[in-house]
Amino acid sequence: MSIKIAPSILSADFSCLDREIRRVELAGADLLHIDVMDGHFVPNITIGPVVVRHIRKTTRLPLDVHLMIEEPQNFIDDFVRAGSNMITMHIETISGSKFKAQSAKLRKKGVRAGVSLNPATPLNRIKSVLSYADFVLVMSVNPGFSGQEFIPSVIPKIKQLRAIFDGGISVDGGVNDKVAGRLIKAGANILAAGSYIFGADNVKVAMERIRNAR
Ligand code: DX5
Ligand code: ZN
Repeated sequence: MSIKIAPSILSADFSCLDREIRRVELAGADLLHIDVMDGHFVPNITIGPVVVRHIRKTTRLPLDVHLMIEEPQNFIDDFVRAGSNMITMHIETISGSKFKAQSAKLRKKGVRAGVSLNPATPLNRIKSVLSYADFVLVMSVNPGFSGQEFIPSVIPKIKQLRAIFDGGISVDGGVNDKVAGRLIKAGANILAAGSYIFGADNVKVAMERIRNAR
């Protein structure tokens, strides 16, 4: 499976966001990871559909929108209209039946549906919706902030997931060159990384380091 790199713009300099996005796009990013937080599901507030709509104009990269919000079903249409290509909902915020309905709607519109789970949430919680998920986003920090330390206990979860799921497996939180190899070996094929990429002097080298880690 080829490895996709998804720089998380939460670690970018928002005063020159288009330049930051161009920097990672030119350096070979595969996706652009956009963290949406509501101050309820997580203790932080970031960006909404208005910003996603403007980002859409600045890049051709697929927009990988990670919703860390309560009642995600109320906002999906706005994020689709804003130009999202992938939308992830947290299983802690939505029932299985609502997830299935949203996923069916997204797939019809050509948007890929993802389900995410927090480090403390067991794999069992997402089993019933897996056939409705194009990818699973495994959180490897407690969502809310970039720059946190990777939680290694999620690695067995990735292995168990890969044994039963052949869609995309994305890992998000604390990803750097020291952990990337273990994640890929465990079965992950999408690496979302914020501070490691945007904090690097050379973003191209940083992305290649995690892409090629084994
Ligand atoms: C955390 C976000 C992550 C975060 C990643 O809640 O979902 O996408 O921005 O940043 P790093 O790689 O710095 O942990
Ligand atoms: Zn994220």
